[in-house]
Amino acid sequence: MAILVTGGAGYIGSHTCVELLNAGYEVVVLDNLCNSSEKSLERVKQITGKDVTFYKGDILDRDVLKKVFEKEKIQGCIHFAGLKAVGESVAKPWEYYNNNITGTLTLVDEMRKAGCKNIIFSSSATVYGDPAQIPITEECPKGTCTNPYGWSKSMLEQILSDMQKADPEWNVILLRYFNPIGAHKSGLIGENPNGIPNNLMPYITQVAVGKLKELGVFGNDYDTPDGTGVRDYIHVVDLAVGHVKALNKIKENVGLGIYNLGTGTGYSVLDIVKNFEEATGVEIPYVIKDRRPGDIATCYSDAAKAKRELGWEAQFGIREMCADSWNWQKNNPKGYKE
Ligand code: NAD
Ligand code: UD1
Repeated sequence: MAILVTGGAGYIGSHTCVELLNAGYEVVVLDNLCNSSEKSLERVKQITGKDVTFYKGDILDRDVLKKVFEKEKIQGCIHFAGLKAVGESVAKPWEYYNNNITGTLTLVDEMRKAGCKNIIFSSSATVYGDPAQIPITEECPKGTCTNPYGWSKSMLEQILSDMQKADPEWNVILLRYFNPIGAHKSGLIGENPNGIPNNLMPYITQVAVGKLKELGVFGNDYDTPDGTGVRDYIHVVDLAVGHVKALNKIKENVGLGIYNLGTGTGYSVLDIVKNFEEATGVEIPYVIKDRRPGDIATCYSDAAKAKRELGWEAQFGIREMCADSWNWQKNNPKGYKE
């Protein structure tokens, strides 16, 4: 029996493949490599000494999905495949909705035809919009998203929940990630953004490696202790382990499960700069810029439900997140390119 990992060559997917293989699962990856490299899967093999079965293909392609379900004995799917650049989603809403929503609808249709009704979906804290309460529990109402990427996550949560309600044979786990950073300790796999990074940590590591001149801090007049935005950063290896725990939960026939995956602690942009400098000894020059449209002041989780029901809790602190992000970047200044 195997687990289908869509988007398994990507940042979170590749780290999850490592944890699945370490936990003894067989892993089948389906990825069209639109935002990743097959090299990540070679590195997964290097880390674990185990093979992943790889299909290069698109979740929009029914033929490849049919082939996967015919050939492999798929027990459940961890569904990472999706486009995730917030700014690009504003410029290309159709492409984002088609890839993320039509792609997921196609995937789950082929899943149910094949009799596989277990799915773990990569959602995001972005579904809370500007959160009604801090720390954010799963009971906190979903909010207004500021971009098509966020709406695609929010809508897919609704679609998958409705499907589970109509057909209780489905097990659907929605994992709402807070801000994943860090990399595997080996420094062999990590985040590999195309072009200039939008997110904070890859921007910082590219400043550290000399690719970018300085960090722009987006606003220092928020209602936060130092005026800069506060987020719940979580080590990607902790996040990956959360998926293995969610698979255990599926074995109990959970029906619908919704979990925040975060540490429960918020750090400001300047906290991250300081911790990065202390963890690595590399100085990060920065300038204060205007607020970024769509940003909120503060977002961090109450992670108690995942601890209670999944037996999962983040293990790594902010220093390790910074040190591991840097270890990956300095060993792979061009990402997976030689
Ligand atoms: P990523 O871009 O590194 O990984 C996504 C993978 O999906 C890539 O390998 C890409 O090639 C593949 N893919 C995209 N569209 C596809 C399609 N139509 N068919 C097949 N493969 C396709 O991103 P990531 O950071 O690893 O994120 C994984 C998932 O988690 C995404 O769904 C993302 O929206 C979600 N998420 C990420 C974050 C984050 O901060 N990284 C936060 C919340 C949620
Ligand atoms: C962003 C997305 C969110 C997505 C998440 C993971 C927006 C509005 N939100 O979250 O939908 O799920 O990424 O992909 O884009 N910052 C700087 N300078 C930078 C980059 C970021 O100061 O160059 C600040 C931001 O203003 C924010 C914090 O750092 O306060 C974290 O930013 P980022 O890493 O982009 O994550 P989010 O905005 O939380």
